[in-house]
Amino acid sequence: MLRCKAAINGDAVKINFVNAAEWQTFVKEPNLLIDRIEKEVFIVRNFMNPRLVDEFKQFCLQFSSEKDASWHPCLDNCPDYHRIHHQYPQAFVKSTQHGYYFHPWNENFARLMTFSGFEEIFELKARAAGSHFSAFSKNLPSQGPIVRIVSHQYPPGGGGQEEHIDPVSPFAKVQTIIQAADPGLDYHTGGLYINDPEFGVVNIDPLTRKGDLILASPGVKHGVAPIDDDQELQWDTTKGRWIIMPIIIHSDHVKDISLKPYQTTNS
Ligand SMILES: [Fe+2]
Repeated sequence: MLRCKAAINGDAVKINFVNAAEWQTFVKEPNLLIDRIEKEVFIVRNFMNPRLVDEFKQFCLQFSSEKDASWHPCLDNCPDYHRIHHQYPQAFVKSTQHGYYFHPWNENFARLMTFSGFEEIFELKARAAGSHFSAFSKNLPSQGPIVRIVSHQYPPGGGGQEEHIDPVSPFAKVQTIIQAADPGLDYHTGGLYINDPEFGVVNIDPLTRKGDLILASPGVKHGVAPIDDDQELQWDTTKGRWIIMPIIIHSDHVKDISLKPYQTTNS
């Protein structure tokens, strides 16, 4: 395991570069990861082949070209949908991004699960909760926590997300973010950072390439600094920062507000 010290004021947050074998060890024994995730960040190099990442993005772009943007609560019969978030005032955390949401009870999911890597991420999250992916994989929203594949495109010209922390639930003990763009090629400034309580702001995106998997704590403050904000905002482009996130979440049948992410900065 290679270690990179992201120097901040002469000190450092531990960033670990992980290979495929070490990732497999985490999938089998998530506590090896969970026990360290509060104080460290892990990057699994080449987690997904960049050509597959591009196929996934193409799938999203095709989807949004055929279907109008919309929003749906996560209740039974929730369709797959895509949605433009543009500093929506009612949002728990304000963002500027194009989000895509795919669910196992709809027709797209079986195709998406053929992309290598998603099942391992779901398995790690489920095992961290003392269970198995199969216990969540077929749940409908009314039946308990559900699995969802999410993608975000943060467009050039200010795409981003305010600093926040996410709820740490038994099946969300670690954030698993597939980097789906190439920093330096698809965008030049902004991107994912963590605001570590000890070391301050650490920019994560410049350490990554398309296809890498970022593992970080949901409970440490983080955000997406504005992408290429020297440009005009561009929604109609394939550029900008893209991520893919397989997640297990409570459905909207659960109304507990403490389970929602919340903003940690003033706007
Ligand atoms: Fe988050």
